[in-house]
Amino acid sequence: MKDAVAPLFEPLPMGPITLANRMVMAPLTRSRSKVPGHVQTPLHALYYAQRASAGLIVSEATQISTEGQGYAWTPGIHTDDQVAGWALVTDAVHNAGGRIFCQLWHVGAISHSCFHDGEPPVSSSTWTPEGQAFVGDYHPDGPTVPHPEARALRTDEIPRLIEDYRHAARCALAAGFDGVELHAANGYLLDQFIRSSVNRRDDRYGGPVENRIRIVGEILDALAEEMEPDRIGIRLSPTGGAGGSHDDDPTGTYAAAAKLCAGRGLAYLHVVRPNSHGGGDAEAAEAVVPAMRAAFDGPFVVNGGFDAEEGAAWLTDGRADAICYGRLFLANPDLPVRIAAGGPYTEADGDTFYGGGAEGYVDYPTLHRTEPPT
Ligand SMILES: Cc1cc2nc3c(=O)[nH]c(=O)nc-3n(C[C@H](O)[C@H](O)[C@H](O)COP(=O)(O)O)c2cc1C
Repeated sequence: MKDAVAPLFEPLPMGPITLANRMVMAPLTRSRSKVPGHVQTPLHALYYAQRASAGLIVSEATQISTEGQGYAWTPGIHTDDQVAGWALVTDAVHNAGGRIFCQLWHVGAISHSCFHDGEPPVSSSTWTPEGQAFVGDYHPDGPTVPHPEARALRTDEIPRLIEDYRHAARCALAAGFDGVELHAANGYLLDQFIRSSVNRRDDRYGGPVENRIRIVGEILDALAEEMEPDRIGIRLSPTGGAGGSHDDDPTGTYAAAAKLCAGRGLAYLHVVRPNSHGGGDAEAAEAVVPAMRAAFDGPFVVNGGFDAEEGAAWLTDGRADAICYGRLFLANPDLPVRIAAGGPYTEADGDTFYGGGAEGYVDYPTLHRTEPPT
């Protein structure tokens, strides 16, 4: 192994567990759950077990409730059948020596009424996201249709929403996950509270940044009543994501969100770095990740377009404690082996990202075998 990538192979203590290395597999929606029920199957167990050499796997985004769904064929973690399906996955990952957290997801407005018996999706405020909802065959005009206008959650509905997160966290533990990652990134419901372009509320969840991030703190409090905080991670993304939302002051807002996560003994803070192709303010994009690291006091995980060498360099100079890889893990189930060998890497096939079955899912080859792993 080249010295340049060696830091990726150092173990990382994280609460009750120790990650065998510092390569995290990113949450990756693959839209292959069994319907009705939105349940994981042995196929999903195989897919995740193939990638168990990651220091930590973060599951694909998993809806905490029916209200939290916004895409076709995504899994849930709120019914007994879903717990049983995910238990197949966690068992397979653990048997292969891996660790796995469940990404708890509520899409908010990035949805369609076809998932909600004709009712509008919910958000922080009345809002119609840009772009199209991915409805597959749930709607006669699918696979994509425009998002309808979402309605604002009433203040008296927030406690119920927090209970939905709590219930999902309990289900995740029952399914054998090592922990949960609160999905507060990529423009979904919690970002719809955080970001100033969407949140126009005038209650304690709207207005100044401390109000807009309040719901995140309240959900973290509820989750910490269900499990030790060092089994709870959180994902934030200062820019980008679905629906075209933004914050007027990403550095100030997301540093405040990172500070809200500090002092709680969380497993980690996971940040998707701003995408330099986004055409945004490049200087601000560079400032926000260090500001978030400085505001947080636990393991810091970064994601977004990293390769092996850049990831290792971030570890070496202390900018992060672990590096999260998305498309590289999707297409290279044995990514740590490949990184140690200096490659080569298989390219991810975008045509098979979402929906379908085994093809483009469990048939990516490993380095030392031409046959896909079983
Ligand atoms: C197919 C696909 C599915 C994704 N699904 C999720 C998801 O479920 N949850 C999430 O937070 N991010 C999701 N993302 C974003 C990735 O986690 C990651 O941030 C992105 O791929 C950038 O990292 P990379 O450059 O290492 O691929 C997805 C990305 C891709 C390509």
